[in-house]
Amino acid sequence: MTNFTTRPSPVTTLRSLAPQGFEANPARGRFNSAFFSVMGGYINWNMHQHKTKAFAELSPNVVELGPGVGANLRYLPSGARLTAIEPNPYMHPRLRRAARRHGVELEIRSVVGERIDLPDASVEAVISSLVLCTVSDPAAVLAEIRRILAPGGRFSFAEHVAARPRTPTRWAQRILRRPWAWTFEGCSCERDLASLIAAAGFTSVDIKPYRIHSPFVPFTTHIAGTAIA
Ligand SMILES: C[S@@+](CC[C@H](N)C(=O)[O-])C[C@H]1O[C@@H](n2cnc3c(N)ncnc32)[C@H](O)[C@@H]1O
Repeated sequence: MTNFTTRPSPVTTLRSLAPQGFEANPARGRFNSAFFSVMGGYINWNMHQHKTKAFAELSPNVVELGPGVGANLRYLPSGARLTAIEPNPYMHPRLRRAARRHGVELEIRSVVGERIDLPDASVEAVISSLVLCTVSDPAAVLAEIRRILAPGGRFSFAEHVAARPRTPTRWAQRILRRPWAWTFEGCSCERDLASLIAAAGFTSVDIKPYRIHSPFVPFTTHIAGTAIA
């Protein structure tokens, strides 16, 4: 007799964890999860000095936007509790394993940064790296960060941004924008995130532009810093 019992495929199961409005692509989702797992060490080596400063003295309860596979777990204080705003379900298994390795208590919220399901003024620290380039609406995400931060709470960031106009790097960012965005799930190298953060209504903002030396030319212009709610 034929047995017609079906099991949900793992692909369908993971994909179904994506929140409404976030398109989880099985092939590119898995590729990006593997890419950031393999290349994370190299990327972090380039950004480490600036992350160390921006992520210094974090409180033990941290909300991270788009933590991916856990590039920033190493910057959390010991005994930290991380609330991960991570809509891409293909990142979740590696992120869970990395949190276990680092001894970080992890709660994953499969929501987008544009609509964070946390109450107003409820957190002391929000961090992000290489995320505001990818979200659909960075201004809406910054408004959400301000909403959930308690007065005096800190947003610490390390992001890549558009190069100065009429420079070779800016031309490369322009020329490669479509294949880059396709490969890295919506990532734009053309955003002026420093201006957006400065205009987001924080009480004070400290932003440092810097450059990394990498063959990934569109990805060489960065900012890091903090903004106080
Ligand atoms: C380029 S990866 C960076 C991952 C990690 N932060 C790092 O530095 O390696 C961008 C991350 O942002 C997440 N992301 C994309 N859209 C998002 C959104 N609307 N809200 C929150 N996170 C988002 C992706 O799933 C991915 O994990």
